[in-house]
Amino acid sequence: MEAKTVGVLGAGTMGHGIAHVLIRSGYTVFLHDLSQEFLGAGAGRIAKGLNRDVQKNRLTGEEREKALSRLKTTTRVSDLEEADFIVEAVTENLEVKAGAFRAIEPHCGPGVIFASNTSSISITRLAATTRRPDHFIGLHFFNPVPVMKLVEVVPGLATSQETVEAAERLATSAGKTPVRVNDFPGFVSNRLLMPMLNEAAYCLMEGVAEAKGIDDVMKLGMNHPMGPLELADLIGLDVCLDIMKVLYESFRDSKYRPCPLLERMVNAGRLGRKTGRGFYEYPQGKV
Ligand code: 3HC
Repeated sequence: MEAKTVGVLGAGTMGHGIAHVLIRSGYTVFLHDLSQEFLGAGAGRIAKGLNRDVQKNRLTGEEREKALSRLKTTTRVSDLEEADFIVEAVTENLEVKAGAFRAIEPHCGPGVIFASNTSSISITRLAATTRRPDHFIGLHFFNPVPVMKLVEVVPGLATSQETVEAAERLATSAGKTPVRVNDFPGFVSNRLLMPMLNEAAYCLMEGVAEAKGIDDVMKLGMNHPMGPLELADLIGLDVCLDIMKVLYESFRDSKYRPCPLLERMVNAGRLGRKTGRGFYEYPQGKV
């Protein structure tokens, strides 16, 4: 069955971005979060993103209005019964994600596919917390979602071939390029990216160079669009630390040891752009 209506759980950085690309691609989206405040903030960011699409001639004004009319925000899980595909993008924590799936499962028919945007939690393990492990898959989007082409498609041990194909169709129709990756800690993306960001934090902690110097080396010498410390601030230092912990604990290999500076910054609440301060300061406040 082709999905036409998608439930997106979580209106934060990833959830609102996923909802944005889906409504832009013709899907009706029920965006769910726990409070009207979170939903209002997410919907505001989607509207701003669609305005940017109009300014950049990617959408007409009429298409923007139609896309916005396809966005429904709700705090009631029962509203998700209209969805034929669910994409979960709540806090990166096994218990929180499993709780979100437990809350919606009674409202979803047996054919509805559950996809998690987890960046590091085992899909097989998350799938086993539901009653539909064959209809469960990882769909890992990248930040900023409207810009980044990639979606990692991660089948768990029990995921059916039909589910994989439906998830790939959803990603493709949302303008993304799906890449199939097996269910290993950090998949491919974060297994490669996070150790680099963590090592950049070690370079800073050990005084190899100032933050700007570290970032300039990677931008000017390796043509990365952002330096690793700028990128860590964009992703969120708490997210980076959580992923490093998953890699460290899953592989039990000291090469994934989280940098103590990263831990200290998270403990101090310096989480990057979203709190106005991380490796850099963001004087305009939270973004
Ligand atoms: N939302 C929507 N569109 C955005 C955007 C946003 N937040 N930020 C930038 N854009 C668009 C702009 O409109 C512009 O579009 P155009 O080409 O049509 O004009 C384009 O992106 C380029 O933007 P800018 O000119 O303003 O800025 P830059 O050229 O500096 O690009 C960037 C900004 C796209 C963020 C670029 O620096 C970049 O690609 N950085 C690396 C991002 C990255 O690595 N993301 C992956 C993070 S890892 C992850 O998400 C996985 C998770 O599990 C941790």
